[in-house]
Parts: sequence; structure tokens; C-alpha cells
Amino acid sequence: MKLKPDDLEAISSRTLGHYDRDAEGFWRGTRDHDVSQNVEALLRHIEGEAPFTILDFGCGPGRDLKVFAELGHVAVGLEGSARFVEMARAYSGCEVLQQDFLKLDLPAGRFDGVFANAALFHVPTQELPRVLRELRAALKPRGVLFSSNPRGNNEEGWDRERYGAYWDLETWRRYLSDAGFDELAHYYRPAGLPRERQPWLATVWRSRDEG
Ligand SMILES: C[S@@+](CC[C@H](N)C(=O)[O-])C[C@H]1O[C@@H](n2cnc3c(N)ncnc32)[C@H](O)[C@@H]1O
Repeated sequence: MKLKPDDLEAISSRTLGHYDRDAEGFWRGTRDHDVSQNVEALLRHIEGEAPFTILDFGCGPGRDLKVFAELGHVAVGLEGSARFVEMARAYSGCEVLQQDFLKLDLPAGRFDGVFANAALFHVPTQELPRVLRELRAALKPRGVLFSSNPRGNNEEGWDRERYGAYWDLETWRRYLSDAGFDELAHYYRPAGLPRERQPWLATVWRSRDEG
């Protein structure tokens, strides 16, 4: 079923309303999450000399922005929840763009890497090809995209007040490849558990050389 412009508006506004309302609770629950494996997976694949310019797509209250900044990189957040934008700016001291994933306005070719930790699953599948192409356009040539999403069997819809899409690896690969990315790595998280207790699928991609 095709989602209409009003449906897409509702998906963004209800989902962001959910995060806005419980911004403090989300921060308490996630500020100590260790995602260093993901940060390293992105940085390891970026070519050239550091410091790098990194877009933290759906940065939330800014946990990982601060990590990138402390490692000496130029980290820029992108976030739709007004409350998270304030919190991320205050916590990290980084630039944070207030934008809706579904209405992006990004500079072309600015970023060495995009870090999308637990964010892209909020994009409805119908809009995913466009959003991935827009992220690719914001990357420098051969730039790197990291993404971690809760995986599933390609179902999507509302989970109370949040809209989510839950792709399997094969489907995710098809969307990324079609958008102009080549796979560099994938793994499941948390590390060290049996697969059925690893709900997160992390993948790393390079913007394909068209030369
Ligand atoms: C699960 S949280 C992840 C936050 C952070 N990356 C982390 O790892 O803790 C998803 C983030 O995506 C943001 N988000 C969801 N839908 C969005 C939309 N349509 N536009 C902009 N941000 C959105 C939420 O506000 C939230 O910060």
C-alpha cells in the first residue's frame, strides 16, 4: 500500500513526538550504551588522513557526537526531535542540524562518513531509496556509511507511537547496492551472543566509485 504525503507527515511527527516526550528517559536508558564497536567499524574504513567530518544521522541526545569529537573528528549531528537537538548541542558542543529524515537538506559531498546508529529503521521502505541516495550525495567520493538497525523479516508499521521497518540482511543489501553502495562489512550485535539473541544488524558501506 502506497503511503501518501499525509501518512509520511504522520510517521515523522508521531515518531518524533514519542522521542520528544520521553527525551530524558531515553537519555537515562541509553547514555551508557557501549557502541564503540560501531564507531570503530565506521572509522576503520574511512580512507585518507584524520580528522574526518562525520554526520551522526539521528544523533539523539548526542552520546556518539561527543565520542567522535573527543577522538578529534568534526562531528555534525542531524536530528528531528527538538528536545534531542537541544540536548545534543549542550552535551557535545557540536553543530546539530534539525531536520526530518524524510525532508533532508544536506550539503553535497561534505562528509567522510555517515553514522546511522539505530536511525534508518525509522524511514519507511517506500522512502528508503531516496533517503539513501541523499545520504550518498552528502558523502565525499568513496565515503563510508555505517548503519545499525533492529533486524526482522521485512515487516513495517507502528510500534505504539513509533514507526519502524525491520529488514533482513538480503533486503537491506539490495537497497544499499541499488543506491550506489558497496558492502565493506556486516555483523550482528550484541557481540558474543547466539544469533537469536542478536537483534541488531550492523553494516558498513562505501559509496561506489562511478569513475
Ligand atoms: C533509536 S533512536 C537512536 C538515537 C541515537 N543514534 C542512539 O544510538 O542512541 C532514533 C533517533 O532517530 C530520530 N528520528 C526518528 N525519526 C526521525 C525523523 N523522521 N526525522 C529525524 N529524526 C528522526 C529520533 O528522534 C531518535 O533520536
